[in-house]
Amino acid sequence: MYTVPKLTDYSAKAIDAAVRELLSALEQEGSAVGSESDYKAFRDRWMARKNGVLTQINDLWLKPAPKDAKKDVGQRVNELKSKVEQTIDAAEKRLTSTAVKSKLSADHIDITLPGICRPIGAEHPVIKTMNEIVSVFRNLGYSVSDGPEVENDYYNFEALNFPPNHPARDTQDTLFISGQDREAQRDRLLLRTHTSPVQIRTMERLKPPLRIVIPGKVHRNDPPDASHSPMFHQIEGLAVDTNITFGDLKGTLDHAMKALFGSSVKTHFRPSFFPFTEPSAEMMVSCFICGGSGKRGSEPCRPCKTTGWIEILGCGMVDPNVFEFVKHNGYDPKKVSGFAFGMGADRVAILKYGVDDIQYFFQGDVRFLKQFG
Ligand code: PHE
Repeated sequence: MYTVPKLTDYSAKAIDAAVRELLSALEQEGSAVGSESDYKAFRDRWMARKNGVLTQINDLWLKPAPKDAKKDVGQRVNELKSKVEQTIDAAEKRLTSTAVKSKLSADHIDITLPGICRPIGAEHPVIKTMNEIVSVFRNLGYSVSDGPEVENDYYNFEALNFPPNHPARDTQDTLFISGQDREAQRDRLLLRTHTSPVQIRTMERLKPPLRIVIPGKVHRNDPPDASHSPMFHQIEGLAVDTNITFGDLKGTLDHAMKALFGSSVKTHFRPSFFPFTEPSAEMMVSCFICGGSGKRGSEPCRPCKTTGWIEILGCGMVDPNVFEFVKHNGYDPKKVSGFAFGMGADRVAILKYGVDDIQYFFQGDVRFLKQFG
């Protein structure tokens, strides 16, 4: 590293040489500055009042200079001083501009790169089917109602005319919540086995006339297989008014099936039993896969099991015993009548999309679900 020599020879030539040597050291050290700490060391080495190079020149060159050389040396020393200051300034500027540049290049974004594409989910085929069914009824002036999936005995059974211990309860394969033995029977919790309890809950809340659909999840103790799942979906319907007849039920459901499956489908009602409807029926639609022929070419039609008909829902006229439970809110069975129906939404989705296993709906495999996007 450069050290300031003593000057013994004050001739112009000797001074020039010493100045040249100093300047080249200055240049070299200045251009080697690459960091903040380099810069500080460089600045201090040249400018420090105590023992900095400039101080040394003053002490070693100027002070001992003979009288006649003093003016000249003084001038050179002043020039050197401003040269040193310039070089130090330049080093600092260079340092900050490279810092800015490297920050810019670290932060810079390439606006020509394609963006990050966040995939939008697709509506689940069962939800989509439920929405379609709901919208058919919305267009008929129905509203949407809902209720809890964890239900009590009263709403799931008693108020729907399943008396305690009645064998009709056995048909529901109920999943009961444990630890309820100390509760009164009607308060015991269970997973609702159908959406029908929401009929009662809604009639307690709203006076007649009433037209509602109730989409929702229900649970039954059914082992899973291609056509059963312990959790599935229903859409319930309820219309209550004065003079509602079985003709209204047939007309409404026939219209709904044509809206859902196409105007050429036919409907067929056959007698059935539900505790909360009287009379009760099961409704069939002509198979919209085979057109009712039971055959697809020379193959038997599987969805309708070659019968040409598909059972799609249970329905009936609201049993007067049911109205007795909500009579206090204007549902006097002598004054009002109504119809109700309940259909499995998963089954409709299976038929609509030609899915051969209900389990696909609930396994959450995106390769399956993507197809409905
Ligand atoms: N709740 C019945 C079931 O789950 C279906 C139904 C609803 C039948 C309304 C008649 C009226 O099987």
